[in-house]
Amino acid sequence: MKIFSANKLAVDSRYDYKQVLSRIISSYDSAVVRAYCKVRFTIININILHILALCLRGKRKVLDLGCGFGLFGLYFSMLYPDITYCGYDMDPKRIDMANKSAKRLGMHNTIFRCQDIRDLILNENFDAIMTIDLMHHLDDNSKNSLLAICANHLASDGRLIVKDVTTHPFHKLAFTWGLDVLMTRGFQMWYWNETKFNAACKKYFKRLDTFPISDWMPYPHVVYLCEKV
Ligand SMILES: C[S@@+](CC[C@H](N)C(=O)[O-])C[C@H]1O[C@@H](n2cnc3c(N)ncnc32)[C@H](O)[C@@H]1O
Repeated sequence: MKIFSANKLAVDSRYDYKQVLSRIISSYDSAVVRAYCKVRFTIININILHILALCLRGKRKVLDLGCGFGLFGLYFSMLYPDITYCGYDMDPKRIDMANKSAKRLGMHNTIFRCQDIRDLILNENFDAIMTIDLMHHLDDNSKNSLLAICANHLASDGRLIVKDVTTHPFHKLAFTWGLDVLMTRGFQMWYWNETKFNAACKKYFKRLDTFPISDWMPYPHVVYLCEKV
């Protein structure tokens, strides 16, 4: 078993994202997960990682909803060692893997918990709440409740950062739906386009910025940055 120390990542090497990602990926026990992560970071538009990192900059207390194996959470916790990061996901196996990796990497600022986001109750406020490819797994009512909960539990200068997929162009949506069916073994997804997302957010956030991400792969990615002031 390999043990890595977060402290060994000196200030400069924190910005060597390939090295940081490779350390995180090597810390997973499962060869399938390591292969999945490698593929994900080979085909994904890597600028998404950097855009999300910029959105999180300066934020100390971070909540990540639908964190999966913790790949992004571990990356941001290494990049910003001052943050306190908490990730929630409903899949106990993924949470177990994420916590084991955090331990192996010597990360003390990072915790992962098993939680169905549809039953989410928060008792504290956060400087940033992010969701990466979770929203389209939640039905419209759950999404609306989640937006209200997030708005109520963000610091006054806090941010909700949402990375998800939109509904156009159609061939990109069809490709994404196919992948989602393969990954979830279910057929029902609840994709929102920018107009729908904006309309739902308007109730809770004063400012909403929408950043479409272009990708050579047929993914219709969008990053939304929502702020209360
Ligand atoms: C596409 S994966 C994204 C994982 C992670 N954010 C990433 O980008 O690597 C979606 C994740 O959302 C989780 N998820 C879906 N519905 C959920 C729910 N109701 N509550 C909590 N997690 C959920 C799944 O278990 C899965 O890990």
